[in-house]
Amino acid sequence: MSTATGHGHTAAQFSPETTVVAAGRPERTADSAVNPPIVLSSTFHGTRATREGDRIYGRYSNPTWDPFEEALGTLENAELPALVYSSGLAAVIAAMSLIPAGGTLVMPRHSYQGSLLLAAGDARDGRITVRTVDIANTDEVIAALDGAAMLWLESPTNPMLEVAELAVLADAAHAAGALVVVDNTFSTPLVTRPLDLGADVVVHSVTKYLSGHSDVVLGATVTSDPELRSRLLTYRSLHGAVGGPFEVWLALRGLRTLALRVQRSMETAMELAGRLATHPGVEAVRYPGLPQDPGHSRAAAQMDGFGSILCIEVAGGAEAADAVTEKVELWLPATSLGGVESLIERRRRQPEEPVSVPENLLRLSVGIENVEDLWNDLDQALPR
Ligand SMILES: Cc1ncc(COP(=O)(O)O)c(C=O)c1O
Repeated sequence: MSTATGHGHTAAQFSPETTVVAAGRPERTADSAVNPPIVLSSTFHGTRATREGDRIYGRYSNPTWDPFEEALGTLENAELPALVYSSGLAAVIAAMSLIPAGGTLVMPRHSYQGSLLLAAGDARDGRITVRTVDIANTDEVIAALDGAAMLWLESPTNPMLEVAELAVLADAAHAAGALVVVDNTFSTPLVTRPLDLGADVVVHSVTKYLSGHSDVVLGATVTSDPELRSRLLTYRSLHGAVGGPFEVWLALRGLRTLALRVQRSMETAMELAGRLATHPGVEAVRYPGLPQDPGHSRAAAQMDGFGSILCIEVAGGAEAADAVTEKVELWLPATSLGGVESLIERRRRQPEEPVSVPENLLRLSVGIENVEDLWNDLDQALPR
């Protein structure tokens, strides 16, 4: 895909670190702005009887979405622009709508809880059948694909950080006649490009790294398949899950620093994971960047880096883990992830979280603060 950058180049010619800065710029003409405008209009002029122009109405289209959709499509190496939605979960629902009535969905038992709840609801209503699997166990996933309509993947998974063998599973799913959807929220396209590994559709919670400042709620889907994109666009238009122009403009503004933020937070996550692995107050560390992590060799083979989410199991159980979230002064005790600020959360405080997630597990979203400040704060808060 090529994105006009307004100066005779296309974003596809550049490395991802440049694409995040250069993609989706307006044409370079005298006195034109270097940033795209926010277009606040619910309706668009058409030419009388012929109804020329395809924007028509603000639930179908808005010019503010275009630069962000172009940039994200380019970053995911897609042939087509992304589609932006009002939330990550709206993008998840749109992607799951591609399962035909009566079809079977295979998904990780530790997917994002919202995706699991949605799928379980559809199953309860009799619309689909759901099979949950250990996504790190390739044989188990392949066995579950028999007769499946869709394989849902998250890699790494939220919050257990299991790493799936993406290319092998995509091949097996296609052989079984199933579509492959990858929720790439944890990785971002700078770290994993699922379409290159065989996925049909990528889903994002744009709320997280892509916008990067914990100030918007948005989602996206990306595909190179024109028919799938057209079905997703129709779903978005008719269900009305559209992003507000200001939020999407903020997401593009945040995307400009994605490469810097991801690189910095990954370096810090690696350093913290190494130190936490020998901390007496920590029973276990989950981070695919650690050589002893079960997902390490797969992650090293299919990712550019290891992301910046890590999980620790705190010695002393749920109460001790809760105490850590109360004692930290720099880390913010809050849900969500992927912002500039470091967040810490005991996932099982939420009753919806799968019970196979340990009670004492804290999920850490590493931000861009100074590594020693982050370490000192964690160290003083952890049990001795
Ligand atoms: C992996 C993943 N996918 C999807 C979502 C849903 O996104 P949103 O909260 O933007 O609706 C989340 C939110 O935490 C997530 O972590």
